[in-house]
This record gives sequence, C-alpha cells and structure tokens, in this order.
Amino acid sequence: MATRKIIVRRHLILILFYIVTTVRSESNVAVNKTTEQSSDQGNVKYAASHVVDDCLSTDLSNGCCTHTERGHTTAWWRVDLGELMTIIRIKIYYRDNFQHRLAGYQLYVSNTTNTPTDGDLCFVDTSSTKNAVQLVVTHQCPYVGRYVTVYNYRNNPKPYSWYSDWAILELCEVQVFGCPTGRYGDGNCQKLCPVDCYGGNCNSKTGACFYCFAGKFGIYCNSDCPANCKDSLCTKDAGTCLDCVPQTYGVQCEYACSTNCLNSLCEKVNGYCYECIAGQYGFTCDQNCHVNCKDILCERSTGNCIGKQYLSTLIWWSTSGAVILSF
Ligand SMILES: *[C@@H]1O[C@H](CO)[C@@H](O)[C@H](O)[C@H]1NC(C)=O
Repeated sequence: MATRKIIVRRHLILILFYIVTTVRSESNVAVNKTTEQSSDQGNVKYAASHVVDDCLSTDLSNGCCTHTERGHTTAWWRVDLGELMTIIRIKIYYRDNFQHRLAGYQLYVSNTTNTPTDGDLCFVDTSSTKNAVQLVVTHQCPYVGRYVTVYNYRNNPKPYSWYSDWAILELCEVQVFGCPTGRYGDGNCQKLCPVDCYGGNCNSKTGACFYCFAGKFGIYCNSDCPANCKDSLCTKDAGTCLDCVPQTYGVQCEYACSTNCLNSLCEKVNGYCYECIAGQYGFTCDQNCHVNCKDILCERSTGNCIGKQYLSTLIWWSTSGAVILSF
C-alpha cells in the first residue's frame, strides 16, 4: 500500500511538473505594465491596472476587474508593453454574465496610442446573440507592436436590442503572450532569435523566423536554396525555387532542359521547350520532322511539314508551265 501511494504521488509530481513547464513556454508580457482607460467608475477597486494584476477572477466583487463609467458612447482600455513586442495571442477575461456590454468590442495592437485610428485590428466581435459573446477567449494576434487596446462603442440605434445602451468595459484580465522583438521562448524570452532570421525577429514561442534572407530557407533559415534557383530565391518553407536559371527546370531546377529546345530554354514546371531547334517537334522537341518536309521543317505541335503544300503546288505549276511552254 505504502509503495503504491509513493508511485501515485511521483506520477502526480511529474504531471504537475509537465503542466508547469508547458505553461511556462510562453510569456505574458502584459503583467504589471502601465495601463490606462477611458474613464474610471470612481472606485480604486476598478482601476485599469487590475487587468494586468495576474488575478484571473471574473467576479467584479473580488477587486480584480475594471469598470469604466456609464454614460459614454466609447470606452477603451490600453496597456503599454514598454517596448516592441512580438505577440502571438491575446487572452481576455471579462466580467461574468455581462455579454451585453462586451458585445461589439475591438482588439488592437499598435505602436501609438491613437487607436482605433492606428494599429492592427486583431479581432472584432460581431456576435448576433448574447450567448455567442465569449467572455473568456483567446485571439490569435500575430503582430509586432507596443500597445494593446480593447475598444468599444455604442451607436444609436444599436445593432441588436440586447446590446447595452452605453459603452462600458469591465475587463478582468488581458494576457498578452509574446516576447520583446528579437527574443523568444521558455516563458522568460531569454533566447535570441536565430541569426539567420531576416530582420532579426522570430516567433516568440518557437523561435521560427518570419522571413529568410535571399538564398536561405527553412524554419530557422539555415538551409541554402538550390543552386539553380534564379537570383537564389526560393520559398521559405519548402525551398522551392521561385524561378529557374536559364536552361534548367523542376521544383528545385534540378533538371537540364533538352538540347532539342531552342537555346536549351524550357518551362520551369514541366520542362516543355518554348521553341524547338530546326527539324524537331513535340512538347520537348524529341520527335524528328519527316525527312520529306522541305528543309526538314515541321509544325511544333503536329509534326506536319511546313511549306509542303506550297512546294507541291509549285511543282505542279512548273510542270504545267513546262507543258505550255513546249506547245
Ligand atoms: C510597429 O513597428 C515595428 C517596427 O517598425 C513594425 O515592424 C510593426 O509592424 C509596427 N506595428 C504596428 C502595429 O504598426
């Protein structure tokens, strides 16, 4: 009995360890940062800073949420992350049971405090029913920026009768997962993005580059594009050439165009010649024109002689001419 208990406990510890390390693979860069909101309900209990206090309770009475004033047609809350951050996703916790107030909100990432005119819009709530408004929700928000703003407004008439009359925000927590630009990983953003990432920035969780320098590809941009890619350009993920240097074709431009192609030039996708050298026909110009064709020239697609008709007419005319002349 005693050993069984120990084993169970060890498993529990391992599971807990796993959960803790998984959670730590991303950093919430909003905690305790500077916040601002459009108005205060007048109680320090509802101050803007409660949205980044790491308290996830969504019960307003617990003192972990904000509450902007009634009577306004717009309301906003903003956090200044202090420096440029590479953001992955943003998680919002809103006051329990108050969907009618959160409905219609917008989420922005920006470099200035001029939202909503400035910045990248990550999300707009367009829920048509009250129950469709998610109060605890994660939004993918893969942008680089310094400020995160939650914004809401009310127009008259309201889009739905169940909307609140005034724009009011009662955010309980906004978690911004990301890292300062140029860094990533392990819940503390201590790793530097790979040197090969173009612009020096990378995914704040995985360290994958967003873009590579010309000539490179791969998650960390440390593979060389195939040698025959034109201008050394290839796709970031698969290393497929965008275009080939002359006289080559294939996904990686690894094949030589047929020497039966005029100037050995062919299409990248299938190696079909643009034009054939004299005496050849077919897509890859691998067929010989008939020796009876004049100058052994034939049509590219059918192999029909070029000028055969003209030639026989000429012979006929000269023959009859000869007959006439002999009279
Ligand atoms: C903020 O500035 C950085 C660096 O110039 C830029 O990469 C980023 O796209 C900007 N973000 C927004 C939301 O405009």
